[in-house]
Amino acid sequence: MITKQKGCHDIYGDEAKKWNYVSHIIEAVCERYNYNFIRTPIFEASELFHRSIGEETDVVSKEMYDFKDKGDREITLRPEGTAGVIRSYIENKMYGDAMQPVKLYYNGTMYRYERPQSGRDRELTQFGVEVIGSDDPMIDAEVISLAVNIYKILGLKGIKVNINSLGDQESRNNYRKALVEHFKPHSEELCEDCKIRLEKNPLRVLDCKVDHESKIMKTAPLMTDYLNEESKKRFLEVQKYLDLLDIEYVVNPSIVRGLDYYNHTVFEIEADIEGFGSQNVLGAGGRYNGLVSELGGPETPGIGFAMGLGRLMLALEKEQIELPIEESMDAFVMYVSDTEKDYAVTLVQELRMNGFKVETEYTGRGLKGQFKQADRLNSKFLIILNDEELRENQIKIKNNQTKEEELVEIDYILYYLDEQLASFEDEGCDCGCHHEEGHECHCHDHEE
Ligand code: HAM
Repeated sequence: MITKQKGCHDIYGDEAKKWNYVSHIIEAVCERYNYNFIRTPIFEASELFHRSIGEETDVVSKEMYDFKDKGDREITLRPEGTAGVIRSYIENKMYGDAMQPVKLYYNGTMYRYERPQSGRDRELTQFGVEVIGSDDPMIDAEVISLAVNIYKILGLKGIKVNINSLGDQESRNNYRKALVEHFKPHSEELCEDCKIRLEKNPLRVLDCKVDHESKIMKTAPLMTDYLNEESKKRFLEVQKYLDLLDIEYVVNPSIVRGLDYYNHTVFEIEADIEGFGSQNVLGAGGRYNGLVSELGGPETPGIGFAMGLGRLMLALEKEQIELPIEESMDAFVMYVSDTEKDYAVTLVQELRMNGFKVETEYTGRGLKGQFKQADRLNSKFLIILNDEELRENQIKIKNNQTKEEELVEIDYILYYLDEQLASFEDEGCDCGCHHEEGHECHCHDHEE
């Protein structure tokens, strides 16, 4: 038997329905915030990730799925979404669009050669947003609030927002110097990777997975102490807007993020749920004001975040949040004889073309089996075909809830079903949940 690769998942059945439901909620929230969907390729030139994410990061130095294609090009399966979106922004000259800033969202698979464990996969799905073309601290707060609102709408309670500022270039240079001064006398205590990081990119030392518990790491200077006045002021403004939006957060000076393109605001949203495990960062992001120009575009500010959908599903499961994924059919078309079957084929087609969700029998079950199958599918109506009634231009329709039956003229069947189904209609709400009657809505709007 050929099995799937380590760190990859087959998602099907109820789990697939939950993923679709969550994606639908995310899309609905993005629409409210006026973000537009973007789809970029799963593979890109390797250079894109080297230049944007940074050579000394774990993602680039250890985790990339690199290969040469048949034309001898260096290709990488994308480890994250930001680099591809910014490449597309520049290549398609989106900076020239009248609509600025450009607000985009994506939802797709990413690839990282990591050691798999719960919440850490090699093929992962990220939903993310990027806002390109505004440096207003208000946008930083909006991006954080968008992420928080998605978790809230889904009913997730245990989340903790950590924010920090990496400051502007001047602040980072000063911090760099302080880090070198701190670590240099103890460089022998650092792991081999960190010795190189200290020379090339000292900030990356703070992100080390080997040395992170050591004393020298814990006594390292904090970025917040090296922010210049302008960066400090900007960071306070972001906090002001978060307060205005009523978003709870903690300023956590140890957040540096694992990718090199960040400056100013960075943030991580943690699962604050007992027994969640070590891979507890549900979503993370930050500002990247130098990235567009680094990749060859005009000097343009940007900010974004991404959340791992696998980790989000784990969090929903841990908090025992039931998603309203139970489905029903409008009608199940039943038949026995060959002529009834011929009629069923065309009727099912006609009903589907007119927007009804309809199923029929494909495996030769008798009527009893078909009744059971219709119940399994939660069918609201049963359309029971009978040769004699068909000759009279009539069809028997049974309400599967009240068990009432009616003979309906063939010409009126669409109209009849439409009317009858109205009594089953979804409760409906603005949240975009489309939960069915009787299901609890996890929408924040409804909680209030
Ligand atoms: P990141 O922190 O590398 O940021 O990943 C964002 C989220 O993706 C993580 O918080 C986690 O939920 C999920 N994730 C990452 N790696 C894995 C993995 N191996 N298995 C499962 N889930 C994982 C970025 O990717 C940035 N591009 C975010 C961003 C967008 N910054 C600005 N714009």
